[in-house]
Amino acid sequence: MTIQRTFSILKPDATRRNITGAVNAMIEAAGLRIVAQKRIQMTQAQAETFYAVHSERPFFGELVEFMTSAPVVVQVLEGENAVLAHRDVMGATNPANAEEGTIRKVHALSVGENTVHGSDSEENAAIEIAQFFSGNEIVG
Ligand code: CMP
Repeated sequence: MTIQRTFSILKPDATRRNITGAVNAMIEAAGLRIVAQKRIQMTQAQAETFYAVHSERPFFGELVEFMTSAPVVVQVLEGENAVLAHRDVMGATNPANAEEGTIRKVHALSVGENTVHGSDSEENAAIEIAQFFSGNEIVG
């Protein structure tokens, strides 16, 4: 059994529509524990740093604008194979391609306004968690 941590964001389309509880219920039903969570207004600098890997993509400006357009909820999730388990419950990036019953199939509005972010590897999870949480804010 491999207990992992992963990083999650409930994006502005989720806070705007007041569906953060509904999304958290799906996360918890997938066997993941929310071991840290806070609602923040992301700054432009934070969003640009977080998504630096996408800085050359044509949608980068739109992505930063969206992520700073309303509060987000940043989270640390813990569980067995948490990175993959979270990616499974999120569904495909584009909700049009997401499996039935996934968060993005149920709630996402578009590929940009896609409700949730999740780390793509354990290595990136550690980097992303460290951008938003100090160790004593994570209580497993
Ligand atoms: P996320 O998992 O947060 O990582 C990068 C984000 O870029 C991704 O989710 C999408 O929300 C966003 N994204 C990917 N492709 C597009 C696109 N074509 N237009 C706008 N946003 C996109």
